[in-house]
Amino acid sequence: MAQLEQLEQSAAPGSEWWRTAVIYQIYPRSFADASGDGIGDLPGITSRLDDLKSLGVDAIWLSPFMTSPQKDAGYDVADYRDVDPLFGTLADFDEMLAQAHSRGIRVIVDLVPNHSSDQHAWFQEALKAAPGSPERARYVFRDGRGENGELPPNNWQSVFGGGMWERVTEADGTPGQWYLHIFDATQPDFDWTNEEVKEEFRSILRFWLDRGVDGFRVDVAHGMVKEAGLPDYAPVADADSMGGGEEYVPYWGQDGVHDIYRDWHQVLAEYDGDRALCGEAWLPTLSRTALWVRPDEMHQTFNFPYLMTPWDAQQLREVIRESLEEFGGVGAPSTWVLSNHDVVRHASRLALTADNPQGEGIGPKSEGKPDQVVGLSRARAATTLMLALPGSAYLYQGEELGLPEAMEIPDEFRQDPTWFRTNGERYGRDGCRVPLPWSADAPAFGFNDTGASWLPQPAEWATFAREVEEKDADSTLNLYRRLIELRRDRSLGTGSLVWEDAGADAVAFHRGDLHIVANLGEQPIELGEGVTFVVQSEPFAGTAVPPNAAAWFTRA
Ligand code: GLC
Repeated sequence: MAQLEQLEQSAAPGSEWWRTAVIYQIYPRSFADASGDGIGDLPGITSRLDDLKSLGVDAIWLSPFMTSPQKDAGYDVADYRDVDPLFGTLADFDEMLAQAHSRGIRVIVDLVPNHSSDQHAWFQEALKAAPGSPERARYVFRDGRGENGELPPNNWQSVFGGGMWERVTEADGTPGQWYLHIFDATQPDFDWTNEEVKEEFRSILRFWLDRGVDGFRVDVAHGMVKEAGLPDYAPVADADSMGGGEEYVPYWGQDGVHDIYRDWHQVLAEYDGDRALCGEAWLPTLSRTALWVRPDEMHQTFNFPYLMTPWDAQQLREVIRESLEEFGGVGAPSTWVLSNHDVVRHASRLALTADNPQGEGIGPKSEGKPDQVVGLSRARAATTLMLALPGSAYLYQGEELGLPEAMEIPDEFRQDPTWFRTNGERYGRDGCRVPLPWSADAPAFGFNDTGASWLPQPAEWATFAREVEEKDADSTLNLYRRLIELRRDRSLGTGSLVWEDAGADAVAFHRGDLHIVANLGEQPIELGEGVTFVVQSEPFAGTAVPPNAAAWFTRA
């Protein structure tokens, strides 16, 4: 209990931990593999908590580890109240949670409420039950169009490619109704107008809150409510399939979702310790995104407009300004994020020279592949900038090593449903999900003892191994450590910033006596006399910040 008290000290209103936290996303299947089967697991995470402690993060968010047939890497949950044997047991979870808490690290779990797996007991019951039954009413079943119901109920297209409806065979063997799936056909959407669904999820929240989790990352938090009547809808050409680019989509960002989060807010409020909800909501504007974090709804939402901003100073200044204004306008902290398990890693993305819509990925035949040296410099500069911003920042495992996207994964290893549903037209997200390198000379780079790895690790990742970076004072790992430590020492997570003018290609501001500048242009930016550097995104001599670099400094 003494250890938990350490976590609860920030409970004063306005100083809740999630307002300023640096939160590290663990993708369990690729973090650390204690069992040696090639897929990471909960005991693996527990064994590496000291590494996260020394990185300095405040919290971890675990992508799903619940019982699942793994058709979408665990985002297809068959039992919301148990751990998939691939990852361990509930006892392993409890141990991991206790060990994290004892190190002062909070734990957020991923909740997937938009859809379940088709192997979930409810969906299996729905398949056996008749059209119009209460079992079917938990999901979105509809009769098809056409003379014999042979056409899908509407024209919606799945995020992973292909149609959004799958036809079932009824108990008597005849072709029957269709069910809706925004994602893969193995991920049927729940009907969130159904009271039974609402009650079930309140109970699932309580199950994990009772175990002691500090919050939830809520998957597809903009998709759970669909426009009544499910009207046809033609997406704008090249629209972001997760909804980030379009004003109105009948299944993204419907007003009704907010009632769900107001309800959940109340559930979390019954618990002590500032439990938090963070929504995954891809919306076209920051003002829309901020609706998810009004005072009685979620606590945080991912800042995807920030993540999607290209390497351009003017656009970056604008998105930071707007983020602080819009989130601040509803009393919520801004969040910041550059990478996650759904997007091309930012050490590659920031130097791409061709368009790459979210979810497309990069593979052997992609155009516009990045110059890796430029990519890594930009990534380090981008993080140096991000960790100086007020609010809460999300890191994705491996970015602290400067890992690039794995761009040459052979086709036969691919696992993302996007790859299969588009017949290989889109590579999907496997390239950002490759197991981490821990040591240069061990099997699977120390991911486990056996050398097994569910996705192949690029040979050149030896140089990114944590053990190698530990020993190099200028490594990306040591840069992240320094940034996180200084951010904490100087309380950079709270407060505001004052913009400075360092030219059109710079993003520059100060926080008290600390100045921050990032150079997104092609010419060095001279800072002049009296400068003392506190951090440089990569080592440089003199007082001019080179292109693709950033620095924190003070002035005499
Ligand atoms: C979210 C997850 C993604 C998953 C999808 C369907 O976008 O981040 O990985 O495929 O939801 O659950």
